[in-house]
Amino acid sequence: MALDVECDEGADALWLARRGCQVTAVDVSEVASRRAAGVAAADVRDRLAWARADLTVTPPSARAFDLVSVHCFPLRREPEHKALYGLQDAVAPGDTLLFATQPLPDSSAADYYQPDEIAQLLGPAWEIQVNEERARTTPAPAGTHHTRDAVLRARRRS
Ligand SMILES: C[S@@+](CC[C@H](N)C(=O)[O-])C[C@H]1O[C@@H](n2cnc3c(N)ncnc32)[C@H](O)[C@@H]1O
Repeated sequence: MALDVECDEGADALWLARRGCQVTAVDVSEVASRRAAGVAAADVRDRLAWARADLTVTPPSARAFDLVSVHCFPLRREPEHKALYGLQDAVAPGDTLLFATQPLPDSSAADYYQPDEIAQLLGPAWEIQVNEERARTTPAPAGTHHTRDAVLRARRRS
């Protein structure tokens, strides 16, 4: 079971479902959830569950997912890291936490977590498998300058 955090209109959730994953896709926006449910193709409808929730307030179920996938989520830094730890806790033992985002400009980096900082906060219960900035292999989306991603993939030790 995969959790797509802040699924927006559901592109990542669909991608995962089409590769055989059972996916719970969550977004705080009612509009996003409704649109996502609307576009979900019939071929994967039985593998997708859409939910509306603010994951910084209501953490996902603990140890419930074999993949927690967080793409381009502006997760605001907190002194106690409560929301971040809530997302980490959702990963089952032996399974995977994936964070990917565009590297932030210096003006925003003070306010939002970047994957490398999350890697530092994970601690010994996790194996860091990927922690790097990399060039995209596809052109930047229309109207953006996003050509690089910061990527963290970590596995919770069993
Ligand atoms: C930049 S989009 C990310 C879209 C998607 N993950 C992707 O990679 O294309 C940010 C999404 O996060 C959602 N979001 C923002 N804060 C949230 C929160 N606290 N809990 C759940 N979703 C949230 C917004 O509604 C929006 O759909």
